[in-house]
Amino acid sequence: MHKMTEQNMINAFGGESQAHMRYTYFASQAEKEKLPNTARLFTAISFAETVHAWDHYRELKHLNGGFVANSMAAFGPGDTLKNLGLAIDGESFEIEEMYPTYIETAKFQNEKGAQRSFEWSYNTEKEHLKFYTRALEALKAGTEAVFGPIQVCSVCGYTIEGDAPDLCPLCKASKDKFISFNSK
Ligand code: FE2
Ligand code: FE2
Ligand code: FE2
Repeated sequence: MHKMTEQNMINAFGGESQAHMRYTYFASQAEKEKLPNTARLFTAISFAETVHAWDHYRELKHLNGGFVANSMAAFGPGDTLKNLGLAIDGESFEIEEMYPTYIETAKFQNEKGAQRSFEWSYNTEKEHLKFYTRALEALKAGTEAVFGPIQVCSVCGYTIEGDAPDLCPLCKASKDKFISFNSK
């Protein structure tokens, strides 16, 4: 793998790993604030970020050793209002800067596997941004956004509300590959 794409992949693994861990923390905070829909959203999306991290990690199987991951990391957790803002900042960075740049570099270097993994993440983060924006707008209005079942594709991380589709629109995985996060 070309060095630029390889480093981008290492960085993306770092970013997705931290996003996963941040969202599990944000879910626990939302639970404390009696925001079950928002907590469930964070839990579902934290799983999607795990899928992204694993997809990226598998692209690095030729490596053997330790490397520095240089990734966007949002620090300073607070209440759910603040946490949703941090989540939106992180997703926006990935959509506006990180993944478009990584995808173009992978294309330029003809790294097909890396390009696919970056594209799966990129297209999922756009959905994450919409979910978090909805949750934040409701909270600002003094209420909680209500979500139906949230479905996450265990192959590519794609995240949608409602019933799982017959085929994942992103990676074409079958319905049984979706993990459902339902309200209790
Ligand atoms: Fe992600
Ligand atoms: Fe995301
Ligand atoms: Fe998928």
